[in-house]
Amino acid sequence: MKLWQGRFQKGTSSITEDFNSSIAVDQRMYREDILGSMAHARMLGECGIIPGEDSVLIINGLQSILEDADKGLLEFTVEAEDIHMNVETLLIERIGEAGKRLHTGRSRNDQVALDFRMYMKKGTREVEDMVLDLLRVILDLAKEHKDTIMAGYTHLQKAQPVTLGHHLMAYFQMFSRDLTRFIDSEKRMDHMPLGSGALAGTTYPIDRYMVAAELGFGKITENSMDGVSDRDFALEFLGASSILMMHLSRFCEEIIIWNSNEFGYVEMDDAFSTGSSIMPQKKNPDIAELVRGKTGRVYGDLVALLTIMKGLPLAYNKDMQEDKETTFDALDTVKACLAAFTPMLSTATFNKDRMMEKLRGGFLNATDAADYLVMQGVPFRSAHEVIGRMVNYCIINGKALDDLSQDELTSFSDKFGNDILEFIKMENCLQRRKTYGGPSSAAMDTAIDNARNFIESI
Ligand code: ARG
Repeated sequence: MKLWQGRFQKGTSSITEDFNSSIAVDQRMYREDILGSMAHARMLGECGIIPGEDSVLIINGLQSILEDADKGLLEFTVEAEDIHMNVETLLIERIGEAGKRLHTGRSRNDQVALDFRMYMKKGTREVEDMVLDLLRVILDLAKEHKDTIMAGYTHLQKAQPVTLGHHLMAYFQMFSRDLTRFIDSEKRMDHMPLGSGALAGTTYPIDRYMVAAELGFGKITENSMDGVSDRDFALEFLGASSILMMHLSRFCEEIIIWNSNEFGYVEMDDAFSTGSSIMPQKKNPDIAELVRGKTGRVYGDLVALLTIMKGLPLAYNKDMQEDKETTFDALDTVKACLAAFTPMLSTATFNKDRMMEKLRGGFLNATDAADYLVMQGVPFRSAHEVIGRMVNYCIINGKALDDLSQDELTSFSDKFGNDILEFIKMENCLQRRKTYGGPSSAAMDTAIDNARNFIESI
């Protein structure tokens, strides 16, 4: 017998049952569902809406269901459709008539909105903790490689010298913004929807604040129709997750490039790499590639839910049952990616010598050579032109700027003094970049301090 059987003259087709059921997806919310029902039952008793002794029976019955669920003793059924009706059915089986009072003043529409919010509050915090772990790993690596000079790139062409530490700290910034996006989204998740009923609230004198307090919500929802229809909180989670995955994916892309034989900047630990079934020499950066790949999947989850929601009239529509499959998929995927990525990064070996070697070729100090002329009074645009011609000369003659003789240098500009070669040494090019946010040791000290303070402020 369905909990809603009364109005029907015959049973449900098994096709309908299978198609309609969400238990496979929503059973993971059993704890939230049960805790929500306990708070609701306690409130119904306190407000005199149901007899006090029934309220106690319901709470104890729910407690025993929770304990059994934790032990894996329960079998939820497709016939009972979803986690809400599975729990309610079990409760009635266990405690009889009193159990039939639980759903007073409540609808599955506000119930599912409650459970989903509670589950995603917890999930969001788990993701936040994992991003925080990643930030700590990046900061440690950045400190270690504060003075590891490497080529910085634009268009994947050598551009100007930076340090590995500075490059890593760029990712620190991205992931710290991701973290604050998740933290910020919690504020809007923190509104308790129970009391919205099916859509139009309830006629019973319920106490929504009491339920909110018991369940750890800071606020209650303001409008009963919005309370059951809003899935912004899941979309915000998916949006923040998509941006986080985009950042992870860019990082992975760089790791994959740096790990190639051509670059050789980094090597993954054996424990976080995989081999080839045919090519004995291969050691592949599969984790990085999979994270990059799974990014597409999380974007898909976001687009799926946006699309599910875009045409829905108020208030609840069954389409919304699809919200959990997409959101949970993103939650699981983001957690799995962070769980693999962070230890992969922390155990990777960066090859400083190789990075140093690769500083040659690519004229990373060409901007500094132009800056030298600017210091001698040459307008920047003219200096740019002079150095451009020098670079061209070097390419034709297979030289670097540093290889040019004083005669060669002065043939391009009589402004070059004998301090120019010292001026354009990579180390000096780097240390002059003292701008706030730049790669010099001094600027990096500030960045590292700020990063430490950020982590401590969370
Ligand atoms: N399983 C449903 C969901 O996830 C619960 C709400 C069902 N409400 C309803 N009126 N059919 O959305």
